[in-house]
Amino acid sequence: MAQTTARLLDGQSVAAAIRESVLPEVHAFSARTGRPPGLGIVLVGDDPASEIYVRNKVRAGTESGLRVDLNRLPASASLDELLALVARLNASPVHDGILVQAPLPSAMGRGASQRVFDTIDPIKDVDGFHPVNVGKLVQGRAHLVACTPSGVIEMLQRSDIPIAGSRAVVIGRSEIVGKPMAMLLLQRDATVTICHSKTPDLAKTAAAADILVAAIGRAGFVTAEFVKPGATVIDVGINRVTDRAVADRLFPPGAARLADFDRRGSIVVGDVHPGVSDVAGALTPVPGGVGPLTIAMLLKNTVTAAQAAHP
Ligand code: GUN
Repeated sequence: MAQTTARLLDGQSVAAAIRESVLPEVHAFSARTGRPPGLGIVLVGDDPASEIYVRNKVRAGTESGLRVDLNRLPASASLDELLALVARLNASPVHDGILVQAPLPSAMGRGASQRVFDTIDPIKDVDGFHPVNVGKLVQGRAHLVACTPSGVIEMLQRSDIPIAGSRAVVIGRSEIVGKPMAMLLLQRDATVTICHSKTPDLAKTAAAADILVAAIGRAGFVTAEFVKPGATVIDVGINRVTDRAVADRLFPPGAARLADFDRRGSIVVGDVHPGVSDVAGALTPVPGGVGPLTIAMLLKNTVTAAQAAHP
């Protein structure tokens, strides 16, 4: 078979369309209630990747007319201090959505994230991580759904990739992406398999997929042998590569991304090996694929939460 190159699914343009659709809702809410939908973001510590994600969330929200307040706590903050901040945001009349950026500093202890997500008022839970919202998702009556997987669904739908009747394989079973992703695909009548580190014959299982979602956090893990020719491959990974030898295993000599590496000392790559573009029918790039959708869905969820709280 002649080699083809996968159609690239442009997350920026899909995200721009979602953000545009949110604007009139923001204006209508502001006109009706006398204030914009409000989002309280909490960032604990100074993880460099989280700094960038949070900066982008603040900027995107502000550009869309939301009130966005960034609340910072030092890495040395206790879990009790963080829970007290969440309680203040729960009680705040101007914050309709609350987002506590993950991961939390490891010093907060195991289970800290879940304690925090359990404490956020479910009606303000724009991440969709509270057990009430996860339960509603599982029961097929979702209200606020995790931003990255719901962004992937928007991407598939707006790119005319059929979900109903497809075989979908999700690699990764995190609470943030893998599990809600599988549920959303199932609800749209895909036949869903969830794979993880103990799955036997992972490549073979993945290669049955019409829609393959990679959400494992390992640079270039999904290689061409994981992919059925013509399949749609969604790359959720955001991995910073700082070792030139790793970059050399991903990109051919002379590739522009290697020149990027030499200029900056690192590059961001997905969970999908670039060679997959010779096999897949459609592929999300990293960066510029799923990342912008996560932010667009956060804005949408904030407006949804605001409208639900002020019908
Ligand atoms: N860290 C990585 N992705 C996310 C996300 O969607 N929400 C939060 N709160 N933290 C994250």
